[in-house]
Amino acid sequence: MSDNKSDKAMANNQIQFLLNDTLTTLSGIDPNTTILQYLRQHQHKSGTKEGCASGDCGACTVVVAEAVAGKLRYKSLNACISLLPSLHGKQLITVEDLQDGECLHPVQQAMVDFHGSQCGFCTPGFIMSLFALHKNFPEPSKHQTLEALAGNLCRCTGYRAIVDAAAAAKNHGADQFDRNAEQTIATLNSITKDAMAQLSQGAEQAFSPLSLSQLSQIMLDNPQARLVAGGTDIVLEITQMHKKLGTIVYVGNVPELQKFEEHDDKFVIGAALPYSEFTPHLAAHYPEFGDMIERIGSLQIRNQGTLGGNIGNASPIGDTPPVLIALDAKLNLRCGDEVRQIPLQDYFVDYKVTSQQTSEFIESIEVPKPASKAQQLKVYKISKRFDDDISAVLAAFNLTIENDVITDARVAFGGMAGIPARAAQCEQALNGQPFTQATIDAAKAKLGNDFTPMSDVRASKDYRMTVAQNLLQKAFIEISQPQTNTGVVQYA
Ligand SMILES: Cc1cc2nc3c(=O)[nH]c(=O)nc-3n(C[C@H](O)[C@H](O)[C@H](O)COP(=O)(O)OP(=O)(O)OC[C@H]3O[C@@H](n4cnc5c(N)ncnc54)[C@H](O)[C@@H]3O)c2cc1C
Ligand code: FES
Ligand code: FES
Repeated sequence: MSDNKSDKAMANNQIQFLLNDTLTTLSGIDPNTTILQYLRQHQHKSGTKEGCASGDCGACTVVVAEAVAGKLRYKSLNACISLLPSLHGKQLITVEDLQDGECLHPVQQAMVDFHGSQCGFCTPGFIMSLFALHKNFPEPSKHQTLEALAGNLCRCTGYRAIVDAAAAAKNHGADQFDRNAEQTIATLNSITKDAMAQLSQGAEQAFSPLSLSQLSQIMLDNPQARLVAGGTDIVLEITQMHKKLGTIVYVGNVPELQKFEEHDDKFVIGAALPYSEFTPHLAAHYPEFGDMIERIGSLQIRNQGTLGGNIGNASPIGDTPPVLIALDAKLNLRCGDEVRQIPLQDYFVDYKVTSQQTSEFIESIEVPKPASKAQQLKVYKISKRFDDDISAVLAAFNLTIENDVITDARVAFGGMAGIPARAAQCEQALNGQPFTQATIDAAKAKLGNDFTPMSDVRASKDYRMTVAQNLLQKAFIEISQPQTNTGVVQYA
C-alpha cells in the first residue's frame, strides 16, 4: 500500500484527550486499562462507581463528547468496558465535572429536588445518563427518557423520582459545556488527527489507526492483533476473565469503518459505526429490525456496540446476524488492498469459527433494501427481560407473499444452533406454497429437521424448539391479520 511507510512513521506513542477541560496526554500505560480503572486508580476520581464491571448496571456511566461537523456529540457509555485508547481525540466528562462553581448542574439539582438520589451508589451513573439525555434532547420525551435510563439499574426503590427529575430538568438553558463548546471543539480538532495514536506498556500495545490504509497495514504487520470496536464484548475478557488482549487495534477512529451510505437498493454500514448512529435510518425501512436493535443491551451499549463486533464475535446468540442473514446481507472483508464480498451466512462456519482469514477484517455490511411491498420482515427476540438481556431465541422471517403465495422465504434463527443459521428445510416448505395454516404447519414441523438446539441457562432445548415453531405461527397470524401485530415485545 502506497502510504504505509509514512503512516507508520506518523505513529505517536501516546494518546490525547480532554479530561473535562484539561488536555491530557498519556503514554506508558497498559492499554488494557479501562476508563473506569483510569478514573478511579490513576486520577483518584471515585465519583464513577463500579457495580458489575460487565456493562450491566450503569453505575460507571460517563459521557464522552466528540466533535462532529462543528458540533459536540455527547454519548453515555459504560466506563467499565471501555478501554483508554478509545478516548483519543475525545472529551471525557465525569460526574465530578458537572458542578459549575458553587452551582449543581441542573440535572443534579433536579435529582435533589425530586428525591432521585435513593441508595446513592448508583446516583452518579443516573446523573450522567440524564446529562447525556439533556445534551442531546433539551426536551426529552418519556420514551427517550426511559431509553436513556434503561441501562442504569435501580434495585432499591424504583425509577419514578428519577423520571420526574429528568422531566424537571428540561430546557435548562446553556451550561458550562455549551459556553466552552467552541474551545472544546478547537482542542479536539487540534489533537494530532494525522498521527496514529498508540499506547504501550511492555508486551501490551494498542494502535488507534486513523485511516483504512493504516488499519490494513497494522493488521498485515500484526496478524494476531485483536480488533476492538465498541469493546462491549471483547473487553469482558479483561474485566471478567482477567486476560490481557496483547496487541489491540482500536477501529473506532477509522472514518471508512464509520460510514453509513444509503443507495437505491441497499445500505452500506461501516463495521465500526455504533448502533445508535445507524438504527434510525435502518428502522425507516425495516421498523421491526429497528425495534429489535433498541433492545440490544442498553443505550450505553448501543452507543458503543457495532455490527462489526456483533458479527465478528461469532456468537450463536448475537441479535443482528439472524436478521441480516434473513435479509441476505453481504460482508465486505478486507485484507491489505484486497476486498472480497461474501454472503453473511458464509461467514459463520462453526461455533465461534468464521471464514475470516488471517489479517482480514470486516470493513462494511451491505443490507439490501426491501425489494417490494410484498416483502414482509418479522423479527422476534425472546429473552427474560425486555431491556438489557441476551436472547434465548432470535427469529427472523423474511417472506415475500404475492397473490397469497409465498414466492420467497428466508428464515434464520439465533440460539438454535452453534451459529446463527438459516432454516433450510423450513424455507423449502414455505417457498412456492400458498400462505395458509397448512403450509405453516408443514414448515413448523420441518424446523425439527433444521435444528437440534441445546439446553443452557437461558432455555431448554424443548423450549427453544417450541418457541421457534410458535414464532413462525405468530408471524403467520401477524401477516395475515395485521391488527394482531404486537411488535417485538417478547419475554421468555
Ligand atoms: C451488558 C451487555 C448487554 C449486551 N446485550 C446484547 C444484546 O442484547 N444482543 C446482542 O446481540 N449482543 C449484546 N451484547 C454483546 C455486544 O454488545 C454486541 O455483540 C456488540 O454488537 C459488540 O460490538 P462491539 O463493537 O462492542 O464489539 P467488540 O467488543 O469491539 O468486538 C467483538 C468481537 O468482534 C471482533 N471485531 C470487532 N470489529 C471487527 C471487525 N471490523 N472485523 C472483524 N472482527 C471485528 C473483535 O475482535 C471481537 O472479537 C451485550 C453486551 C453487554 C456487555
Ligand atoms: S460497573 Fe456496571 S455497567 Fe459498568
Ligand atoms: S437508586 Fe441505587 S439501587 Fe436504587
